[in-house]
Amino acid sequence: MQVVRTIPLMREARARLTGTVGFVPTMGYLHEGHLSLVRRAKQECHHLVVSIFVNPAQFGPGEDYQRYPRDEARDLCLLEPLGVDIVFIPTPEEMYPEGFCTWIDVTGPLAQRLEGAFRPGHFRGVATVVAKLFNIVQPHRTYFGEKDAQQLRIVRQLVADLNIPVEIVPCPTIREPDGLAMSSRNTYLSPSERERAVALYRALLSAQEMIKAGLRDASQIRRQMEDLLRQYGAKVDYVSIAHPDTLEEVERIEGPVLALVAAWVGPARLIDNLLIKP
Ligand code: PAF
Repeated sequence: MQVVRTIPLMREARARLTGTVGFVPTMGYLHEGHLSLVRRAKQECHHLVVSIFVNPAQFGPGEDYQRYPRDEARDLCLLEPLGVDIVFIPTPEEMYPEGFCTWIDVTGPLAQRLEGAFRPGHFRGVATVVAKLFNIVQPHRTYFGEKDAQQLRIVRQLVADLNIPVEIVPCPTIREPDGLAMSSRNTYLSPSERERAVALYRALLSAQEMIKAGLRDASQIRRQMEDLLRQYGAKVDYVSIAHPDTLEEVERIEGPVLALVAAWVGPARLIDNLLIKP
């Protein structure tokens, strides 16, 4: 496994790979969710590139860029046995050198709602870094977790709009035994907050139960989900019952919907979602 930290060295290492290249972009502090993407990529591609880069451009002022967990040595130990060919670990200066001034803005309602509304500039940072990483790594396939449902759709839009020749492979959310979606941000939780964090998944399951029981009024479902989250002491940013492709709010449930939540449990802002078929 080769560790490279500069763009020229990454390009050189990439040029030596023959056959299909799979790419898993990450911000490090890897957990089973990331590792499931790496394992899937390994099954489907001849070669594997993983990037570790806590992208400052996707964090807003006052967000957790500084305290975002980082442990490169641990990440490398986790990746080594999985048959990764190259780990790309650039510095912020390497990715955003002085004079950098080109940004990718995914406009339109998809990017403006939900995370886009609560984290202005977030998707601009994601789209820009992802496009840069695709240009640098030039993968055939790239693997994204379904936990970041809106990010996945935005990256799809980016790839389609800018004709980037990469196949996006969505991979299922990996959960802890109690249902909490794996996330590097779960490390912010104290033991008692960790117990309460299951609220997000419980709210999604309650939406599923209501829909399976025949409830079709999405506003009623959203209200009940919010109540449940509050009972656990979570501070709700949003609860959404949305169209799975456009993420537009649904009023009457007539087909599959994506239930999404974002809520604070103590110092951690957590997100989760569940595809529900009536
Ligand atoms: O999902 C993430 O970890 C990040 O948003 C990504 C895709 C690596 C871009 O920084």
